[in-house]
Amino acid sequence: MEFRPFPKTGWRVSTLGLGCWPLGGQYGPISERESAATVRAALNLGINFFDTADAYGLEPGTSERILGEALRSVRGEVLIATKVGNWARRLGHPLPFTHPLHIVNCCHASLYRLRTDTIDLYQCHIGDLADPDIFLEAFAQLRKAGKIRAAGISTDDPGVLARFSRDGHCVSCQLDYSLLNRAAEAELLPACAAAGIGTLIRGPLAQGLLSGNYDASTRFTDSVRLKWNEGSGRQRYQSLLAARKRLQDAFPGYDLLDLALHYAAGHPAATVVIPGAKSPAQIRRLAAALAQTPPPDFRARVRQAVAG
Ligand SMILES: NC(=O)c1ccc[n+]([C@@H]2O[C@H](COP(=O)([O-])OP(=O)(O)OC[C@H]3O[C@@H](n4cnc5c(N)ncnc54)[C@H](OP(=O)(O)O)[C@@H]3O)[C@@H](O)[C@H]2O)c1
Repeated sequence: MEFRPFPKTGWRVSTLGLGCWPLGGQYGPISERESAATVRAALNLGINFFDTADAYGLEPGTSERILGEALRSVRGEVLIATKVGNWARRLGHPLPFTHPLHIVNCCHASLYRLRTDTIDLYQCHIGDLADPDIFLEAFAQLRKAGKIRAAGISTDDPGVLARFSRDGHCVSCQLDYSLLNRAAEAELLPACAAAGIGTLIRGPLAQGLLSGNYDASTRFTDSVRLKWNEGSGRQRYQSLLAARKRLQDAFPGYDLLDLALHYAAGHPAATVVIPGAKSPAQIRRLAAALAQTPPPDFRARVRQAVAG
């Protein structure tokens, strides 16, 4: 496993982290036993960075709870990143976040579920946050109290990142970036590099689409990808499939999953890539991808194959 420095923190993180959204069933059924085995497999590969959120799980909180239990015996050797801001939003009951205490209270709940005294990286989960004051105040209080070690935000909007990082304490930006979504190359990734802000690269497989397991006949049953079954979501899905085909045609003989991991991890501003995995076999396959050598002129050929 390759390790990289995480800006502003002194941490060394595995280039491959584990995205823990699937733990808790939103990406389709997964038993607690399989979830725990996936975390253990990640640890055995040398992965030391785990990304979750209080909102993850068909029952919110499930991902944090399973992760906390699975990491209990190795807590001092790993870094846990979690998020606040979307608790119960999916169920139609978002919290107002009109006072720092709302965030402090969510943090205490996450600490309990994660079975830890401190969260390494606490991220604001509201990607379109208009006014960061309440979050910045709460994160400052939580840092002072030792409840969190560092703070960041998950957003694809450079303006939101600029506002959120104005107090100088933002160490990370989590952003969507893949062979099929290169939008962050224009502004967001360069902004992170310029400000010395670490990046958590989410969606490197375009929500599983780059695995090659899905085609024009697929109907999704999990709660994350139901949006791809109908209407404009289906059109979006079909255009992503067409882009995937152009990529495959540009790289005959290569497995796009290998290229997807290399593309995400290979951007100069990338710190840690956090694909979701639902089984030990999946996380082992993702680690093996980064052990491959990408083709020559890889990034330029990707840009030719898929514009934008
Ligand atoms: N707003 C936010 O902050 C936000 C939003 C999204 C994600 N995230 C974070 O980023 C992480 C990853 O992003 P993502 O879940 O959107 O997308 P992703 O990593 O691009 O795709 C994950 C999915 O790909 C499939 N997959 C993984 N490994 C595979 C393998 N070896 N072979 C075949 N298929 C494989 C699995 O689903 P199937 O097997 O069912 O296809 C898995 O659930 C999440 O877990 C979460 O931690 C954060």
